[in-house]
Amino acid sequence: AAERTFIMVKPDGVQRGLVGEVVSRFERKGLKLLGAKLMQVSNELAESHYAEHRERPFFNDLVSFITSSPVFAMVWEGENAISIARNMMGKTNPADAAPGTIRGDLGLTIGMNIVHGSDSPDSAAREIALWFNESLADYERAVD
Ligand code: CMP
Repeated sequence: AAERTFIMVKPDGVQRGLVGEVVSRFERKGLKLLGAKLMQVSNELAESHYAEHRERPFFNDLVSFITSSPVFAMVWEGENAISIARNMMGKTNPADAAPGTIRGDLGLTIGMNIVHGSDSPDSAAREIALWFNESLADYERAVD
């Protein structure tokens, strides 16, 4: 079924100049870009986004990192977009990610793994609403 997923190039990916590379991979796959913005993440947004990791030992590092410099937040749409995007990103730890995937080709460490992508329909819905809502709705009206 047609799905939407939230994808973000993290600060390491933006700083390394990999926004175009990541966007290009999803475009070439055939997914449709519905919304995108370069933005500085607030502590509040970072803590909401990563709420499920609140008890993890690396939570503070995660929030510090994601708020350290701008991210590039996107919504992509297509058949099975959530699982397709996850396959294209590769395993969370770049050390385990297969060659041919974004993390497998471009990443080295789990903290700086270039991209985030929604892991399920529930998290996609939650993350899209958290990061986009008004601007994504405006975009859809504009292209209808
Ligand atoms: P992400 O998909 O953004 O969701 C949670 C993030 O936590 C994950 O990608 C990793 O970048 C990060 N993460 C997971 N495990 C660790 C860890 N042991 N140390 C630092 N960061 C981690």
